[in-house]
Amino acid sequence: MERTEAQAKIQVLSQELKDHNYRYYVLAEPVISDQQFDIKLKELEALEKAFPEFALANSPTQNVGGGLLEEFKTVPHKRRMLSLGNTYSEEELLEFDERVRKSLGVDTVEYVCELKIDGLAISLFYEQGKLVQAVTRGDGFQGDDVTENVKTIRSVTQQLHGNYPESFEIRGEIFMHRKGFDRLNEQRIAIGEATYANPRNVASGSLKIKDPKEVAKRPLDITLYHFLSDEQPFPTHSESLRQAKSWGIKTAEHSETCQNIQSVFDFLKRWDVARHDLGFDTDGVVIKVNSLRYQEELGFTAKVPRWAIAYKFQTETATSTLLGITYQVGRTGAITPVAELQPVALLGTTVKRASLHNANEIERLDVRVGDTVFVEKGGEIIPKILGVDFSRRKENSLPHTYITHCPECHAELQRKEGEAQHYCLNSEECPPQIIGKIEHFVGRKAMDIQSIGSEMAETLYQEGLVKDLAHLYDITFEQVLALDRVGEKTAQNLIDGIAASKSQPFERVLFGLGIRYVGETVAKKLAQAMGNIDAIMAATEEQLVGIDEIGERIAESVVQYFSEEKHVTGIARMKSAGLNFTAIQKESLGDSLVGKTMVISGVFAKHSRDEIKAMIEAHGGKVGSGVTGKTDYLVAGDGIGPSKLEKATQLGVNIIDEDTFLTMIG
Ligand code: IVH
Repeated sequence: MERTEAQAKIQVLSQELKDHNYRYYVLAEPVISDQQFDIKLKELEALEKAFPEFALANSPTQNVGGGLLEEFKTVPHKRRMLSLGNTYSEEELLEFDERVRKSLGVDTVEYVCELKIDGLAISLFYEQGKLVQAVTRGDGFQGDDVTENVKTIRSVTQQLHGNYPESFEIRGEIFMHRKGFDRLNEQRIAIGEATYANPRNVASGSLKIKDPKEVAKRPLDITLYHFLSDEQPFPTHSESLRQAKSWGIKTAEHSETCQNIQSVFDFLKRWDVARHDLGFDTDGVVIKVNSLRYQEELGFTAKVPRWAIAYKFQTETATSTLLGITYQVGRTGAITPVAELQPVALLGTTVKRASLHNANEIERLDVRVGDTVFVEKGGEIIPKILGVDFSRRKENSLPHTYITHCPECHAELQRKEGEAQHYCLNSEECPPQIIGKIEHFVGRKAMDIQSIGSEMAETLYQEGLVKDLAHLYDITFEQVLALDRVGEKTAQNLIDGIAASKSQPFERVLFGLGIRYVGETVAKKLAQAMGNIDAIMAATEEQLVGIDEIGERIAESVVQYFSEEKHVTGIARMKSAGLNFTAIQKESLGDSLVGKTMVISGVFAKHSRDEIKAMIEAHGGKVGSGVTGKTDYLVAGDGIGPSKLEKATQLGVNIIDEDTFLTMIG
């Protein structure tokens, strides 16, 4: 391609992709499929690689994260980044309103109510419509420059449009939706890692990662709620955000202007209930004086603005005594400290334990055995320790010393540079690790041996029948029958279950091995790409990284796993027991649906839903779980819900019946 042609093409593609990102992430109204987007992105990547001199500074290819960062630069805030005063009581809110009106000498004040999103405060700077810097709050005077990481967040607009001011700052919150958080934790469980405590922690942890490519994988989102500039071009806060929205910025949703404090109370009442239906965590409402002139007049105290306050929703909290800290060892050797509490009733259940996550958390809370602690439980969340009642700390109390050796096998614990978790590396002899590995191997998503539950896995290990995974295939009916409280039927079931597991496909066996970072999806990818275990065992890190979606961390872990003699002999033993170590290549019946996402709903006359699903995949298509802007077709059967049809119509999704579908795939 000619240089000039390449330059023009790079510009056009960059602009097009930015528009699509904006439609997708900010407006939530995409107009092309994911696949079409990816094709364009790959095309742009290839062009930028061939003609790097023409790549735009804020190219959409940067959304996947650029190179590694050395250190985060600490930069001073142009304007101090303050927090808010907060209250849990309506009475104090009335007092706030009174103070505001009195200072201003007016009868009523218009407020804006916004949901207080539980995330991490961030300040964005735009110059000539371009995002030039993103800084964390830090200590309020200076924060970390996390621009490269923030650029990977899809809902952060990097190039504004419309009539934006030349230079301004806008502040907001980076957060994670519950769904994305749950998905991350499911992946962590699948690879045997300790789960994250809450979306807020992951969001803030994510921004500190020095590899923007890794950050790009975290499903982060942003909401912006505070416009700041040298001149004040707008009369009200709500108008400033309305304008910011028109430039393409993702501003606070669900906010409302309230004519007086009474309608503020209405808003609070409504959202105290409605917040449970949001896909993200809010811990309260921020109430702001709407007029910017009034805001200026009211000003700030030393710490917080006088024109705003946060009202926090009540969660159920209680106090309890920390009786002790115990430690759990996971199947990968990850150590999780657990708070053992004096039992206390919270939201209808008795809470006796709470996770303390890791040594850093214990240090952060400065929690000590014997302390009176505040325990909180909200909705579906696991109980958490909010903090310590220091006024009741006993004089002779000592800081908690974290264990140095495994509580189960006494091996010395290790902590990798930059990791929060301690690990016991004695995987061969540490009982909970071995039992955990057996449990994982027989689990539903791996070998699915339902006759072995956690208790049986433990018994098999304790009685010396199963010391490693391959051993499972050596045990006999007589051996099982000889176990305490095991009858013939149970023994036979167990032996049958083990025998049946030999026909599980290779990808499940591979997942079942419990290689660190090899979750279900990665196991599938590896199995499909490499074909069999011998190829995987012989592969180098470079070869593995060449596979779609396999990163360095996974590749390193796979190579490390198979570098151990015991794993190689284990595989050989399982092979001779007859387990599958070769992938069945998926049959392809054509490519008529490549790039298409289809959603199936309702009941069909000729085929089951699973059959239709298999047909879509066999013809190169993807099956989506719900109708979204990314859906190309809705295959509608009898009894399909009206809301699905309506949504599909609204989004312009093609609605087809079973016969049309069958004609499409020929
Ligand atoms: S306004 C000077 N608005 O909550 C006033 N803050 O507990 C700046 N937050 O520091 C803050 N949602 O990190 C504001 N709609 C919202 C907010 C919000 C969440 C955070 C923010 C703030 C903290 C105070």
